[in-house]
Amino acid sequence: MNIVDSELVLSGFQRLGFLETRSGEDADVLILNTCSVRDHAEHRVFSRIGALRSWKQDRPRRVLAVMGCMAQREAVAIRRRMPHVDLVAGTRDFPKIPELARRIRAGEGPFVVVDGTARPDVVRNPASRPRLYQAYVSIMRGCDRPCTYCIVPTVRGRAVSRPMEEVVWEVRALVEDGVVEVCLLGQTVNAYDGGRRGRVHLGTLIRELESVDGLRRLRFVTNHPQDFNEEIVAAMAESTRLDRFLHMPIQSGSNRILKAMRRGYTVEKYRSTVAAIRQAIPDMQIGCDWIVGYPGEVEADHEASLQVCEEIGFSQSFIFKYSPRPRTNAAELVDDVPEDVKKRRNQELLAVQERVSRDANRQLIGTETDVLIEGRSKLDRDRWSGRDPAHRVVILDDPDLASGMIVRAKIRSATALTLFADLVTERVR
Ligand code: 5AD
Ligand code: SF4
Repeated sequence: MNIVDSELVLSGFQRLGFLETRSGEDADVLILNTCSVRDHAEHRVFSRIGALRSWKQDRPRRVLAVMGCMAQREAVAIRRRMPHVDLVAGTRDFPKIPELARRIRAGEGPFVVVDGTARPDVVRNPASRPRLYQAYVSIMRGCDRPCTYCIVPTVRGRAVSRPMEEVVWEVRALVEDGVVEVCLLGQTVNAYDGGRRGRVHLGTLIRELESVDGLRRLRFVTNHPQDFNEEIVAAMAESTRLDRFLHMPIQSGSNRILKAMRRGYTVEKYRSTVAAIRQAIPDMQIGCDWIVGYPGEVEADHEASLQVCEEIGFSQSFIFKYSPRPRTNAAELVDDVPEDVKKRRNQELLAVQERVSRDANRQLIGTETDVLIEGRSKLDRDRWSGRDPAHRVVILDDPDLASGMIVRAKIRSATALTLFADLVTERVR
């Protein structure tokens, strides 16, 4: 979400004639886009803002702005603790940043805007985007779920879907401009209703996007297990471009903890949703988020998570240590799992996931797959890095590739996180 919001702000600046610089040193305006989901993220932002004091002092006409969830939550504290910040804009106000930055440069300000009056997604300029072949498209903002640990509903507000016509227009414009892969975004993206609850759902949108010629890959992030239904799964199965990777956080493998978290499902229900998806789309890979050390989590709950991770066979897991967030329901509970226990549980779950991923990836050795080339490998500039339809990283040695190509490749070797492959044919178009 933050990446796409940053892109939206960037296009607003470009419209006013600003250019993107390569480094903060060259910049007249610097914006920190922030996250509140865990305490650690917020601490890092405060120290980053502190470190930018000299950046600001070097040239006082420079503009330092803070946007995102933390700006929404801590607007007043940011200005009080860090008076060198010129502009704070909330999660539904960031489209105003370019114009306000211009006014600050003309001597006005400082400004704090957290009234939520902008329409974030209408400012998109499809032609200005950081990656030529891939784009994120925000289709809904906010969240109506009651998860006890989560700060998102507080900072991003209630769920609001964009009209379907607007989303389809944006995807079409992006594809006409060269994009081949689109990732639809929402906090609970599968609760998308196009503003017309009961008549439109994510499945309707997936079907509508079938008409966009040239769209080769479609993904959507992130999903709540309770928001899937048969119609969405049927549309997914029929789609000719849907990725083979679905991110659907479970958070815990213990029913007791899921209930305490108010996630709204049991492990059995989650398992049957996975089974229905895999029955409709047998090669669909599932990715997951977990929270370890939620208040009251005992060893037996943790063991249950390890077991469920193994049994479901996720292709990827993001694992987080529970972090109490202000004004959430769980913040009232005692954060009773010691830090070292959280750390150990995190590592144990990660070890299970790594073993599961490595075993699954090794099974792929000798098979062929399509790879969308994303760019040069970060570790070895002579190699190319891309992704297969299940969003796995694939490294290719061939020197003559280029970003945006979709090539056929044969897997030669595999680790838990990466596949290494040889080129079979250059173009799969
Ligand atoms: N503590 C730790 N992890 C959290 N997440 C959300 N809130 C918290 C919290 N308070 C994790 C969840 C979610 C992911 C984006 O962040 O796993 O899926
Ligand atoms: Fe937070 Fe996701 Fe739960 Fe919404 S569904 S409250 S964003 S964890």
